[in-house]
Amino acid sequence: MKTKDLNITIAGGGATHTPGIVQALLNSIDRLPFSTLTLYDIDAQRNDDMYTIVSYLLKKQHITAVELKQTTDPEIAFTHVDFVFSQIRVGGFEMREQDEKIPLKYGLVGQETCGLGGFAYGLRSIGGLLEMVGFVQKYAPDAWILNYTNPETLVSEAVRRKYPQAHMLNACDMTISIEETIARNYGYDRKNWIPQYYGLNHFGWYTSIYDKKLERDVMPELLEKLKKAPMKIAEFNAADPSWQNAWNMMSKIINNFPDNIPNNYLEYYLYPDLVVQETDSSYTRANEIMDSRVKETKEIAANLRDGISGSYYDADFGEHGNYIVDMAISILEDGHQRFMLIVPNHGAIENLRADAMVEVPAYVGRLGAEPISLRQPIGDFHKGLMEAQNAAEKLLVDAFFEQSYQKALQSFTLNQTVPSADKAKKVLDDMIIANKGYWPDLN
Ligand code: G6P
Ligand code: MN
Repeated sequence: MKTKDLNITIAGGGATHTPGIVQALLNSIDRLPFSTLTLYDIDAQRNDDMYTIVSYLLKKQHITAVELKQTTDPEIAFTHVDFVFSQIRVGGFEMREQDEKIPLKYGLVGQETCGLGGFAYGLRSIGGLLEMVGFVQKYAPDAWILNYTNPETLVSEAVRRKYPQAHMLNACDMTISIEETIARNYGYDRKNWIPQYYGLNHFGWYTSIYDKKLERDVMPELLEKLKKAPMKIAEFNAADPSWQNAWNMMSKIINNFPDNIPNNYLEYYLYPDLVVQETDSSYTRANEIMDSRVKETKEIAANLRDGISGSYYDADFGEHGNYIVDMAISILEDGHQRFMLIVPNHGAIENLRADAMVEVPAYVGRLGAEPISLRQPIGDFHKGLMEAQNAAEKLLVDAFFEQSYQKALQSFTLNQTVPSADKAKKVLDDMIIANKGYWPDLN
């Protein structure tokens, strides 16, 4: 493996999260010495906007040793690449809007990665991600793919079936963001923490958070604080007030189920009725984002082209970029740092099926992810929830590969946000129409 002059490609380069990843890369350039950074996107305009912004970032920080490229050609993007950071969003925010709005029409949760919206996105995303992983296998089979592309469990399950040899880590920043937000709210230093956690992606629980400096498990005291009052949005989410709802719901979950700190995404499975009641079905999260960060990014790129610069990129990016860049460093240095990753279970949770894709802590080094066993069975409440969700996810990936309408319907019906097969079928039939050209044909 090359250890200097690395070539890095961001797939989905035009995404609004790119500056955060680039900043994290620049902050770590001594440990992850790269000389080429390529933005790859199928949308040339968005990619060029981001190219303009990243050029500005490099210039502002006087970085001259990095060559910045942009391309829509996978051969250029992946030939000789060492690390691929993947954050593609098949169908963009326009299709996310459909994912969110179609289930809401039938009174069901409409969300990007959870519920039927997540499943619709999954059937689009699997195809796009498999294509991208296929390109990497063709042009640079030894490259490491660090994947943030959603819905993580579905896409990682599909990649595992089709390209089991791919060097890929599947990661989600939600656990690190929860930990960082908790630490900032209550004055802890997250760097001292060893968190124990298990679940499926966007569907899990902490079992303990050992603080090395304080020499105790701090989860019981954190639970007490979270039970009393929800946490406040951390600075890195300050521009985005809707995160407050997530933290409010987290406190609600803890008040009902006080043994574990939950992943906030469980709100969609535990309180689907409440979530639907509180959602504006004509203006969803996708609308919010299109009207805020997507629009702002375009404006910033336009301003930079006109020679006007702003202070926006001094922003606090949170842990999103650092987390995935730290993973690359841990591979390169064989560092065995600990990350939450989405991996095949294979006994990490002893009483859950071996072939489930689970989210658990893992050490990361040259061999990739080495998951850490929980070393105790999980209780029936979490196990039951996870098994139903996992079966629904397996069925959806089957539906993709077998182009099976029946499997898709079974999957939609089993999704934990859906109370009736009738509604599942209605949503599925609407989504087939909305996703024409993105989904495989289901027969
Ligand atoms: C977290 C999750 C991601 C998800 C994102 C949504 O970072 O881990 O999986 O995509 O939140 O954020 P957004 O601002 O796009 O609603
Ligand atoms: Mn995630």
